[in-house]
Amino acid sequence: MEVLERTVNGRSVKIYIGSGLEMEINRAMEKYSGNITFVSSTLRSMYSKKISAINSIKSFMKDGERAKSMVSLNAVFRKLIKMEAERDSSISYIGGGTLGDLTGYAASVYKRGVHYLGIPTTLLAQVDSSIGGKNAINFMNIKNAIGTFYNPEATFSDTDFLLNSDPALLRDGISEAIKMALIMDSHLFKYFTENDIKSIYSAKNLEYIIKKSAEIKLNVVSADFFDSQKIRYLLNFGHSIGHALESYSENTISHGTAVANGMIMESYIAYKAGYSSMLHEEILNAITRYGIPLINFRDIETDKLISYMRNDKKVEHGKLNMVMLNEYGSASIREIEFQKLRRYINLYRDGT
Ligand SMILES: NC(=O)c1ccc[n+]([C@@H]2O[C@H](COP(=O)([O-])OP(=O)(O)OC[C@H]3O[C@@H](n4cnc5c(N)ncnc54)[C@H](O)[C@@H]3O)[C@@H](O)[C@H]2O)c1
Repeated sequence: MEVLERTVNGRSVKIYIGSGLEMEINRAMEKYSGNITFVSSTLRSMYSKKISAINSIKSFMKDGERAKSMVSLNAVFRKLIKMEAERDSSISYIGGGTLGDLTGYAASVYKRGVHYLGIPTTLLAQVDSSIGGKNAINFMNIKNAIGTFYNPEATFSDTDFLLNSDPALLRDGISEAIKMALIMDSHLFKYFTENDIKSIYSAKNLEYIIKKSAEIKLNVVSADFFDSQKIRYLLNFGHSIGHALESYSENTISHGTAVANGMIMESYIAYKAGYSSMLHEEILNAITRYGIPLINFRDIETDKLISYMRNDKKVEHGKLNMVMLNEYGSASIREIEFQKLRRYINLYRDGT
């Protein structure tokens, strides 16, 4: 087991990574006056023994992108009131990034904030979404339109949950881990391009990937917790296009697939805008190597895609602050006009 510990926004944050973390979870929960855990109903029968070993009141609920909604939030609040959750109680989740985003938001506003613990169960949630304290629900088909910054006091990335994982879910996680590598760690990117794919999914290597990604994310968020200095924007590499693709597809494309395709397009844009050499081609190779589906941009209407990008949180004075790679392991924020974006996206479409 690995334990990462950092001070983020003046508070201690612990991340446990390994298998069989039930004991550590129970020990953490002992501190609170009560514990309510929202559990993905997908996991109910798959991991019943593991889930029942956790000493908390449990509420099973449907997850997925559609659960990041006012309706689900309402259900969470109702449950908390019904269970008489106190200010000194803890809320936690056992599930993927969507349940984490939903319950994190609920924990941050219920009684103006209660204790919060994360038990992420998808690779994507373990390498990325469970770390850094951002949460959100979607609203009017706008991704993450309403949310807060609220750190879990501890996160337990138990690799046992990944053993029966759907390969598509593992691919989604690999996509966000490749993103971490591309913005901050060229050695990690090499690890993804050179290692044998089958060996990548062994428990030992998954633990390594989770730890390296968590370290990168912790370094970034501890430097800019509230996203106010644009350092944290770097984590949004691939997401300007990626979030727009998710909205465009009405969430039929997974977050990981959208981000992977977003990374290819955004690196092509960086190349066209003169900020980097042709990095997009090797990124495309890395992504296809893991079998992450490629989106045919010829099937996408550029103007409609751009209309979603106008809602990106990184838009300022009508221009988009986009994350552009300088080289592998290094990225910068560059301002770009929507007119240019349209031109570059169309050029990419025409060339494919
Ligand atoms: N807050 C952040 O910083 C941040 C960062 C990245 C992504 N996100 C968000 O994370 C979400 C995506 O997360 P996700 O990919 O985990 O999706 P998800 O939560 O929808 O989970 C995907 C599916 O996997 C199932 N599942 C969960 N654990 C499983 C397991 N162990 N085995 C088998 N099935 C399992 C779920 O029931 C669901 O159907 C998006 O909404 C995205 O916006 C947030």
